[in-house]
Amino acid sequence: MLRQLLAVKPVRPAPHIDAGEPPHDGLAGEVHLKRTLTARQLLLLGIGAIIGAGIFVMTGTAAANHAGPAVMISFALAGLACAFAGLCYAEFAAMLPVSGSAYSYSYATLGEGVAWFIGWNLVLEYLFAASTVAVGWSSYFNSLLGTLGIAIPAYLSTAPLNIVDGELVRTGSLINLPAVGIVAAVSGLCYVGISQSASVNAVIVAIKVVVILLFLAMGLQYVNPDNWIPLIPEAEGPGRFGWDGVMRGASIVFFAYIGFDAVSTAAAEARNPQRDMPIGILGSLVVCTVLYIAVAAVLTGMLPYTALGTAKPVATALEAYPSLLWLKTIVEIGAIAGLSSVILVMLMGQPRIFYTMAQDGLMPRIFGRVHPRFHTPYVGTLIVGVLAAGLAGFLPISVLGDLVSMGTLLAFATVCIGVLVLRRTRPELPRPFRVPFAPFVGVAGALSCLYLFAQVFADHWQLMLGWTFLGLLIYAVYGFRHSRLRRPPQPTAGGDLGTPPGSAAQMP
Ligand code: ALA
Repeated sequence: MLRQLLAVKPVRPAPHIDAGEPPHDGLAGEVHLKRTLTARQLLLLGIGAIIGAGIFVMTGTAAANHAGPAVMISFALAGLACAFAGLCYAEFAAMLPVSGSAYSYSYATLGEGVAWFIGWNLVLEYLFAASTVAVGWSSYFNSLLGTLGIAIPAYLSTAPLNIVDGELVRTGSLINLPAVGIVAAVSGLCYVGISQSASVNAVIVAIKVVVILLFLAMGLQYVNPDNWIPLIPEAEGPGRFGWDGVMRGASIVFFAYIGFDAVSTAAAEARNPQRDMPIGILGSLVVCTVLYIAVAAVLTGMLPYTALGTAKPVATALEAYPSLLWLKTIVEIGAIAGLSSVILVMLMGQPRIFYTMAQDGLMPRIFGRVHPRFHTPYVGTLIVGVLAAGLAGFLPISVLGDLVSMGTLLAFATVCIGVLVLRRTRPELPRPFRVPFAPFVGVAGALSCLYLFAQVFADHWQLMLGWTFLGLLIYAVYGFRHSRLRRPPQPTAGGDLGTPPGSAAQMP
């Protein structure tokens, strides 16, 4: 058993890939995914996945309860941890253009046990993030409808379950219908095609970036630098202000950066992944880091940080200035657009990770089915859509958000370590993109992500251990027995990572 847990999936150098070539994975007898995405589309997918509930919802709590005006520093620190991880993702995604993201990279470096664990954690990142953001989308949507004089009754627009003092309680509501609706609509789009999804994403990204720039331009005129003093309010206890609060703030706003790695799940559908993956991953991260620090500075400059602890801090800051009220509805539209594209990219990513896991036998074969006309992993897309809609319809945002951050941070730390492992075990592999100062970046990335993980884990360790136990059970019952590494080599596509179709998987 230990031998299988430690078995790594062999990696062979990927030949140069051009548009039109099929991806190098896929089940025998199945249609392949299609290479259609350009560098620009990948960059926009990254921005689409990143900017969402983190900046529009969580900045307020992080500033009001943890970091004060130094939430700017929290954003910079979380951005730095993500920059280390992003560099490592870029090296892997350019070298192994497959759709499994951190799961595939772990399989190539740290063995099947870690790969399953990370694949299982990616469910937290993608599926749970889609549901979390759908719940946030629902509140912005209801508020916008309210502005227009339309009201959906509370029993149809809020979660029927909540967690109070660690216990699950009923709220009297029936279902969060808008949250279910947006997941269903976006899943339909993902079913039809990645190009269509990318085109819709491009429009949404344009809207949300313009809205953020407009907020910055207008809000800047109302910044009072006195609100930034003191930059770091005096500590009031663990995680409340002082440097400890800045760090806790970083672990909260980390959620805002999640998504740049989702670009890597589209590697099998990129026209030129070896060149364009680093552009998509690192480009989107740089653009969003700059925007986030600027928004945090303007927000905390417009209002004292104590006034920002609302579910809609950007709207709250605008409400304080009557001459800016016209911008509030526009910001709400921008937030709704922003959250939609996060849901879109997450719901695109999850079925593609399951698709890759199905190639390896760790998930049922049905997840590897590709639609003959749309070239999408359609069965996985439907299953993921139904699960995400269920979570979004019944659970509140608070339960879901921290799980998302924990799963993602573990995946990031593993990718940082994986880069160093593969540099040692397979130094000869061609790397179209190389992490500069790799030993420093890999170690600093892993340590900073594990540090942020520990901050969230301290509050929610029961949930995380429960999730891990469930994953172990599923692996023992299904994955362990069906793993392709256990079976003799078969003449199918989806062999070694990076090999052309027709190769076979082997034990190392
Ligand atoms: N980064 C994404 C958001 O903030 C998950 O919504």
